Amino acid sequence: MTKNNNAPLDTLKRPLFDLRISITDRCNFRCTYCMPSDIFPTDYGFLPKTTILSYEEIIKIATNFVELGVRKVRVTGGEPLLRKDVVQLVEGLNKIENLREIGLTTNGVLLPKYAKQLKNAGLKRVNVSLDAINNDVFTKMNGNKGTVTDVLKGIDAALDAGLGVKINMVVRKGWNEQEIVPMAKYFKEKSNITLRFIEFMDVGASNGWRLDDVIPSKEILNELQKFSQLEPVNPDYYGEVAKRYKYLDSDSEIGFITSVTETFCSSCTRIRISADGKIYTCLFASEGHDIKSIVRNGATNDDIKDYIIDVWNKREDRYSDVRHINTFPEKRKKIEMSYIGG
Ligand code: GTP
Ligand code: 5AD
Ligand code: SF4
Ligand code: SF4
Repeated sequence: MTKNNNAPLDTLKRPLFDLRISITDRCNFRCTYCMPSDIFPTDYGFLPKTTILSYEEIIKIATNFVELGVRKVRVTGGEPLLRKDVVQLVEGLNKIENLREIGLTTNGVLLPKYAKQLKNAGLKRVNVSLDAINNDVFTKMNGNKGTVTDVLKGIDAALDAGLGVKINMVVRKGWNEQEIVPMAKYFKEKSNITLRFIEFMDVGASNGWRLDDVIPSKEILNELQKFSQLEPVNPDYYGEVAKRYKYLDSDSEIGFITSVTETFCSSCTRIRISADGKIYTCLFASEGHDIKSIVRNGATNDDIKDYIIDVWNKREDRYSDVRHINTFPEKRKKIEMSYIGG
């Protein structure tokens, strides 16, 4: 758990270590907590193609981030596997010198098609969203767009290909809390998969978030302790998002992403790029920084690095830490999860 190297520091002395790249704002699901179908119909004004960064541009930008000290890149969406030739992007990222790890966050349904190719291209891990093991609960939650079987096939394909797999379960009161124990029991049997419970977050302005709909991770942990003892596991790296626990009677682990009840802004080392080429220093930022224009106007690699350093040096974000003192309903603009990729 080192905090070494010369990565740029922000105003709170947080180093820049991770880059999350959203490559599309489109998705084949309509999860109620992310892209509710009444707000995101099929003819929704998604980003036009010309505004979207090309793979060449993404790789150029990512290379500069890595030269500044970023070690981990995560490809996100919307649903990243919907974008054409995503395997080529991973191949390109994999050629960046000193980049240690490439991950991808997906709803999993296209993994049977892509898992092997992605692994061969250099992808290490996938995080697959699955909010229930009961199909009725799951389909209700994803806007009736995909089945549990579809996702399980995707998970199997990823494992067969040799990819690391984590499962993301967003827990939203009134929708899927009855699935906490069944999901835990199901994945406890699969010691090569870590299930993470994610507290429902107030990202964007579309998902009707209320604090009352958040089930605190502590409550989930207490519930799970009733059927198996669990002990905390030390973080794998500085700023790890999930708090992990290990079952005492098996090799399986679970994790909690406690973005509402136990915030982790003080060690937040993440920067995000939207598909249309803006960098965001927080998941809850109102405004991005237009790195696409810089790149398209012929900036040199040094110019690009200077721009990134300047943005990061000025960073003050700690939205989750101060959420409780915000006045609700919030007036300030917030970007959508499907636009920034979580
Ligand atoms: P690894 O730890 O590399 O496996 O990835 P990850 O857990 O950071 O990525 P993933 O895309 O699977 O995100 C899981 C959940 O964590 C999603 O709900 C994200 O929105 C949330 N998350 C990731 N980073 C942050 C962050 O910096 N702040 C907040 N509030 N939530 C985050
Ligand atoms: N709160 C918490 N997690 C969310 N995700 C999407 N929307 C939300 C939200 N409002 C999760 C997805 C995916 C990851 C990128 O973020 O389920 O696993
Ligand atoms: Fe799509 Fe993921 Fe959002 Fe669900 S959470 S709508 S799968 S981007
Ligand atoms: Fe980082 Fe913003 Fe999330 Fe805090 S709320 S952990 S600063 S992305």
